[in-house]
Amino acid sequence: MKPVYYENGALKMLDQTLLPTEEVTHSYTDYREIAAAIVDMIVRGAPAIGVTAGYGVYFGALEFEGLPRGAFLKEMETVCQVLRATRPTAVNLFWAVDRMEGVIENNAEKTPAEITALLKTEADAICSEDIQMCRDMGAYGAELIHRKDTILTHCNAGALATADYGTALGVVRAAWEAGKEISVYADETRPFLQGARLTAYELHKDGIPVTLITDNMAGWMMKQGKIDCVVVGADRIARNGDVANKIGTYSVSILAKAHGIPFYVAAPTSTIDFNMWSGDDIVIEERDTREISHIKGQQIAPDGVRMENPAFDVTPHQNVTAIITEKGVVYPPFDLSIPRLQDK
Ligand code: MRU
Repeated sequence: MKPVYYENGALKMLDQTLLPTEEVTHSYTDYREIAAAIVDMIVRGAPAIGVTAGYGVYFGALEFEGLPRGAFLKEMETVCQVLRATRPTAVNLFWAVDRMEGVIENNAEKTPAEITALLKTEADAICSEDIQMCRDMGAYGAELIHRKDTILTHCNAGALATADYGTALGVVRAAWEAGKEISVYADETRPFLQGARLTAYELHKDGIPVTLITDNMAGWMMKQGKIDCVVVGADRIARNGDVANKIGTYSVSILAKAHGIPFYVAAPTSTIDFNMWSGDDIVIEERDTREISHIKGQQIAPDGVRMENPAFDVTPHQNVTAIITEKGVVYPPFDLSIPRLQDK
């Protein structure tokens, strides 16, 4: 299941706002529209946003490659700025745009058309590397999952959140493919319902047993011994192991700790912000409160009531049992084990 891919000169995106009831794929060639698709969450999930932004830079270059070099480089600064301004929390966006910008800077003496061709190669590489990283994470993570385990996950860290296969759900898929007869509890993940609309959709489609619960049921499921471990994705991991992920992840981590259940985070090293020392510095995106007051256009809260809609929270490293990356599994103390990943 590929939520974002390049085909026949266009960037294709499966519209995740319409899932699970409609499967509609849109085509994009304008970087501004690609940026808007990230803001509107047509595409979402940290790695998928990174892949999309990579292609966004390429389509910007394609638009301006006819300009003289100086003017081209100036326009490319704007393209990168517009893409960077889409969503603040997931570091993969900045990581991908930085990588594309590196290609421009390292080849500034080349013609705009030559740079554009190199940008296409780089965007393709970001996309294919993401799939490989998910596969590698899956293989490492599956080792932590026992036969017949029931795994709780929050939000969607699946194929739909990456170029394919998924991070947390990549671990689930790899364990399932290894014949481990696992099953999954998916938190519905208010307010955007990534768990109900996307995680339940993709696992159900793959025939992996999934039970959908509302967010406030997770503790009770743990109390009854129904959950063996938690596996979630991440949007940004600080150098000390603090993990930003979808709002509600922090609560799940506390519940897991209270019940003695392992809490695993699956994320590629592109999600680690090696320059950020602690989760306290992570910018948390605030989204439109209409996501809370309305469900599918239906108003569910009184007019004029005060609301807050932080899209992410930060789970302190003390609540994280291990972080599964494409380079292996790292354990506390994370301030020692995470920096080692940079040189691996
Ligand atoms: O707001 P979203 O849907 O982009 O948030 C997504 C998440 O929080 C995911 O858990 C995270 O990006 C990891 S995806 C592999």
